[in-house]
Amino acid sequence: MIPFLSLKKQTAALREEVLAALENVIDTQGFANGPAVARFEKELAAYLGCREVVCVNSGTTSVHAALLGAGVAPGDEVVTAPHTWISTAWAISYAGARPVFVDVDRATCGMDPSKLAEAIGPKTKAILPVHLYGQPVDLDPIVEIAGERGVPVIEDCAQSIGAKYKGLQTGTFGLVNATSFYPGKNLGAFGEGGAVMTDDVAIADRVRSLRDHAQQGRHNHVELGFNWRMDGFQGAVLSVKLRYLDAWNARRRAIAARYFEGLKLADGLSLLPRNEWSEPIWHIFPVFHAQRDELRARLEARGVQTGVHYPRPVHLQPAYAFLGYKPGDFPVAEELAATEISLPMFPELSDADVDQVIDAVIEVSRQLPRSRAVS
Ligand SMILES: Cc1ncc(COP(=O)(O)O)c(C=O)c1O
Repeated sequence: MIPFLSLKKQTAALREEVLAALENVIDTQGFANGPAVARFEKELAAYLGCREVVCVNSGTTSVHAALLGAGVAPGDEVVTAPHTWISTAWAISYAGARPVFVDVDRATCGMDPSKLAEAIGPKTKAILPVHLYGQPVDLDPIVEIAGERGVPVIEDCAQSIGAKYKGLQTGTFGLVNATSFYPGKNLGAFGEGGAVMTDDVAIADRVRSLRDHAQQGRHNHVELGFNWRMDGFQGAVLSVKLRYLDAWNARRRAIAARYFEGLKLADGLSLLPRNEWSEPIWHIFPVFHAQRDELRARLEARGVQTGVHYPRPVHLQPAYAFLGYKPGDFPVAEELAATEISLPMFPELSDADVDQVIDAVIEVSRQLPRSRAVS
């Protein structure tokens, strides 16, 4: 079976380096935040080319922290995309604000800039695009519209660390941005983790304070705080792994190029367009097919495991019924949710593995009754 994702080979290759880094945390007793986390924060800031990185205990927390850092408060609205992992919307709710959705763009699977302006109203306090699958959204028009309306942009880079938009790292365009180090991410910890990225020192300081019980001076709590600290062990692991991120992302691009070439021959299958301004990192390699579930079942029987990201858009989740959205409100997001299949994608896949996936997809797509390719 070719797995959709396996961390086995990567973890085995890093074992000695990681164990040495973990021993160092044990020796220095830096278990919560501590020197390993502080060091990783500096390294990630240098890698991205931003001024401040503040690590927290998950990606979900990082989006929440970024929103609070940008001043989002109860009663506000935050404009985001409905085709995302639920955490993007949770974070808006945790801040006491209301998610307002705009449909996504087929070219990126992220926020459609042409639909953004109409979603912005007097209560809008932030615009939160998501670089889903490691595909940068078209940031320039989003940043421009946000600037005209005087509303900050916050990038959700949980799936896009290392991806570039017009030559610059995602996570450096918004006022304050967020990412995840969940183990399956391109830069994954050996547990939970996330980070907030910003050039704004005051925002970084506020997030640092919120992360540690809003404590300024011992036992002096200046507002409602949290325990958002990152484990020292995760900082140590992430420092080791950051050194390999570019090589891993390059390998993902090579795998994606092989899929693009090989899958030309598959029936009824659509692939993402390649945007010349975008250097994606292929956290996920999505393809789209009208008979998604049948195709997946047949691939599984042929020894190819796949995933779905994500089968139900956020505006149709029961938890968000109170927002009053209905099927048909965001047709592109709904079509992507109904047709997306995530093919195996991780740097340790061999060319032979990729070819095996391609052959299976071509064979299986020909067995299915001919159907219209997803547009
Ligand atoms: C787009 C997006 N935002 C936020 C998150 C939240 O990250 P975490 O799982 O680390 O809390 C994820 C993680 O899957 C994500 O994919």
